[in-house]
Amino acid sequence: MCGIIGYVGTERALPVVADGLHRLEYRGYDSAGIALCADSLSIYKSTGVVDDLTLPESSAATCAVGHTRWSTHGKPTDANAHPHTDCHGEIAVVHNGIIDNYESLKAELADHAFTSETDTEVVPHLIEEAWNGGDLTAAVESVVDRLDGSFAICVTAEGCDEIVAARRDSPLVVGHGETGSFVASDVPAFIEHTRRVSYLENGDVATLTPDDVAVTNGGDPVDRPVETVTWDAEAAEKGGYDHYMLKEIHEQPQALRQTLSGRLDAVNGEADLDLDLPEEYVRPLEEIQIVAAGTSYHAGMYARRLLEEYADVRVSVEIASEYEVTGGRDPERTLAVAVTQSGETADTLDAMRKASRAGARTLAVTNTVGSTAAREANHTVYIRAGPEIGVAATKTFAAQVVTLGLLTVELGRERRALSTAMASDLLERLRDVPGAIQQTLDREAAVREAAETYADADAFFFIGRRFGYPVALEGALKLKEISYEHAEGFAGGELKHGPLALVTEETPVLAVLTRGGEPSDLLNNVKEVESRGAPVVGCSSLPSASKYLDVELEVEALGVFEPLVANVYLQLFAYHVARLRGRSIDRPRNLAKSVTVK
Ligand code: G6P
Repeated sequence: MCGIIGYVGTERALPVVADGLHRLEYRGYDSAGIALCADSLSIYKSTGVVDDLTLPESSAATCAVGHTRWSTHGKPTDANAHPHTDCHGEIAVVHNGIIDNYESLKAELADHAFTSETDTEVVPHLIEEAWNGGDLTAAVESVVDRLDGSFAICVTAEGCDEIVAARRDSPLVVGHGETGSFVASDVPAFIEHTRRVSYLENGDVATLTPDDVAVTNGGDPVDRPVETVTWDAEAAEKGGYDHYMLKEIHEQPQALRQTLSGRLDAVNGEADLDLDLPEEYVRPLEEIQIVAAGTSYHAGMYARRLLEEYADVRVSVEIASEYEVTGGRDPERTLAVAVTQSGETADTLDAMRKASRAGARTLAVTNTVGSTAAREANHTVYIRAGPEIGVAATKTFAAQVVTLGLLTVELGRERRALSTAMASDLLERLRDVPGAIQQTLDREAAVREAAETYADADAFFFIGRRFGYPVALEGALKLKEISYEHAEGFAGGELKHGPLALVTEETPVLAVLTRGGEPSDLLNNVKEVESRGAPVVGCSSLPSASKYLDVELEVEALGVFEPLVANVYLQLFAYHVARLRGRSIDRPRNLAKSVTVK
């Protein structure tokens, strides 16, 4: 996720775009840049936050585009920062999203001079080919037809007092102001200047001039209604949600589409994470050791079962701070996988270094390009969830599990452990995760009602089996992190070995009753707690469970990924309980987003 903004009007564009970028930094903050467009184009870009840009004191330009980046292709460097330009520095492009076919497009542009490692840079070079100094909109239209993947782009060019914007699966909103036209990935970028907005739709190409915005789709003119937003700037930054956490929970379908983008071929049962792990290493691989902390540890637990079941490899998952390299293992045939959204957790880095010193190859699974984990690991795969601001991890958990699901298919195929049919089936289910999560989010009112019913409970228990077990642990972690109430997750089978003593009429039990979670066996555990008077909230795809549940939250059919979808109900439950209790949801007491000390 990146933030983009464009302005063309009667005011000086530099302060408008620079202020807008500050307001978009929650969407990305590893590098930034601005293109000022007057008779000639001037580009200012660098790594770091917007304040790190060296900008001119003032500029007479009345047209500009800006970008604040969260890297997905290419490290955060000055050269990789946006805007990107064509060979002559006449066309500037900012982009949010992923262009899946950039490598093949780049191969067709062999006589062009590329200066970055980004997918974006193909766009200005393609426009250069299509544009002859005439109709910029027509040139952009012809280029976006050739792009695969998701994108929101803004283009401006030397001598043109206009911005052309195009979107597919990445948001773009247009602002209609008194002093000009605005376009941005989100309303807060220009809310100071206008509240009159229209939302572009997939396939739209908009041409912004100082006093007009013309939109086409498939070459035909279309009308996008103008709405007036009533939020203030702070609420707008949270997309109208009261907290970043809730916004990030709701961003999961979009984030996961990014995670999956260009990485799977369900028809042929192939997944490709661009890992360059040699086949002669993968085939005889003996063991995977996953090291992680907190929520990432739970994602690792989920992945362990996926990898053991479908890639036929022995997997251990260790809390990073407890990790030791012990004897009897063959480091040469071991892959240590550090799962860490920040890429900076000290314990996880420490464990990864221990594994590396012992001779194991290391793989970082992270959300942060250029992070320490990404730099130090032998291999890296990005989960592409976009920045997460709420301290309690939500969308990064889902993106970690989905990425590790893709890794499972990639390794399983390479190890000849997974048939094409089985791989296709898993990939189809992965592809359906975003839609199933959307359906879950659409039932938020039912979760809020359950939270209202049980918010005053003394303690909450979460139970699950197999893939549902890490989700039970994660559900409890979310609730304790942000509500400060006592919450514990248990493997369903363990209840009768101790925790059942704690179960009373005052302790709601939340159960992950889905495929992939041994629902029939877990139902026996549900009966155990129900007969002791405990209210039961079931995230369920098991119709026969209904009569034992006080609240039933339906989970779409999705095989082993059903618990991942059920987890979204648990995130919402934690959120609403914490909210009813008036907690500081985005910054819970005593906790930090990234723990860089041991
Ligand atoms: C902190 C955060 C958690 C996170 C954990 C691991 O405790 O509050 O949300 O799960 O660190 O972070 P990582 O960046 O390594 O995934």
